[in-house]
Amino acid sequence: MSDTPPFKAPIGTHDVLGAESARWEGLIATFANFAHRYGFHLAITPMFEDVGVFKRGIGEESDVARKEMYVFQDRGERTYALRPEGTAPIVRAFIQHNPTTPFKAWYFTPAFRYERPQAGRYRQHHQLGVEVLGTEDPMLDVEVVSLAQRFFEGIGLHRFRLLINSMGDAQCRADYVVLLRDFLAHHADELCDEHAKVWSENPLRVLDCKNERCIAVTNEAPMLIDHLCDACRVHFDAVRGGLRALGIDATLEPRLVRGFDYYSRTTFEFISDALDGAQNAIGGGGRYDGLVEQLGGKPSSGIGFGSGVERLLLTLDAEGIKDDAGLRRDLDIFLVDTVGTDAPVVLLDRLRHEGYSVDRSYDQRSMKAQMKLADKSGARLALLLGPQELAAGEVTMRDLRSGDFGATQDRVAQVDLLAVLAQRLKVT
Ligand code: HAM
Repeated sequence: MSDTPPFKAPIGTHDVLGAESARWEGLIATFANFAHRYGFHLAITPMFEDVGVFKRGIGEESDVARKEMYVFQDRGERTYALRPEGTAPIVRAFIQHNPTTPFKAWYFTPAFRYERPQAGRYRQHHQLGVEVLGTEDPMLDVEVVSLAQRFFEGIGLHRFRLLINSMGDAQCRADYVVLLRDFLAHHADELCDEHAKVWSENPLRVLDCKNERCIAVTNEAPMLIDHLCDACRVHFDAVRGGLRALGIDATLEPRLVRGFDYYSRTTFEFISDALDGAQNAIGGGGRYDGLVEQLGGKPSSGIGFGSGVERLLLTLDAEGIKDDAGLRRDLDIFLVDTVGTDAPVVLLDRLRHEGYSVDRSYDQRSMKAQMKLADKSGARLALLLGPQELAAGEVTMRDLRSGDFGATQDRVAQVDLLAVLAQRLKVT
């Protein structure tokens, strides 16, 4: 035995194994399906990028860039960062490859942030998301928001709300920040300890502060939504109108400024009322019409959202959604083999070729031990292949969900097996 204590996953990270990973698989596959329906293609970009992609992308002054990035030097002394989010890498790839527009990408990615870990907040979390580059059309905003909404509905969530705001464009936002700065200058000593010191670096951040003192001050502050230029106002009205036409409730939240500097115009967040208040955002996103230029590309607009997989699973649990709305991918068949020849392997091969998910036990265990495994496996049916069945060209079929084996056991001729399975395992 080694003296070394066993290694553990780093703080704020977790392993996803067994039954839990089956839920992940279901969630990712469901999202992939939705993204496909909306015309998106999967994009895979490196897990690390030049640190500048993120510093320039999400803003040097953002909390994530200042305090939370995992930055490292490789052996060639290049400075990289593990991706803290999924948008800037897609935009970097868009600029590099110059694809035809609109460019529509979906992704599933880990994201790394050195945060204080707690339920629903991790140092490595995982996001499902989409990005679209190359059009300002407000109907695209409606589609992107509705994709998130329909996905959340599709996995069975009920207790969530959509908050929406407009961050204006570079010009009307800059004009507004002058007003806000002026207002905060008169109230700086009433702000929370942190913002009393740093409010002037990025006054918009104060609107997002959850401290009661900041909230009390900003209740009286001018709001960007009342100072949008005409073009931004028309754009925002079109987005809200489109969502209404789809029957999607979107509550205006003038304080919603989000954590990264790249946002412009439409911004939104999905809040779960089933989760604890501090970590209750199950998704968020918005437009970033200046980001492509910020990262060195020709001006081009963009919009997207990201949704945390861990938070979605917590929300499914908190809403008491047991069957995960079809997210679980159960085994169809467990094969119990008491012959020990290659006949069961041939049968397995045939069943898998037909598209059934089938598992078995190994090492010639007793029939009883194998039936226990079959029970635990979550399969719908057990097929028993013993010497008698083999000799008769049959299998014994048991329904593992009925709880009453004797009554639900049949002998089936192997030539009829596929037809019988198609009947028994048909989707209900
Ligand atoms: P974000 O709001 O930082 O946005 O993250 C998106 C979602 O990821 C959150 O709503 C939450 O569900 C989840 N999340 C974030 N941080 C953590 C964490 N530490 N632990 C667990 N879950 C977390 C973005 O990252 C943007 N890139 C979204 C976007 C795409 N905007 C435009 N396009």
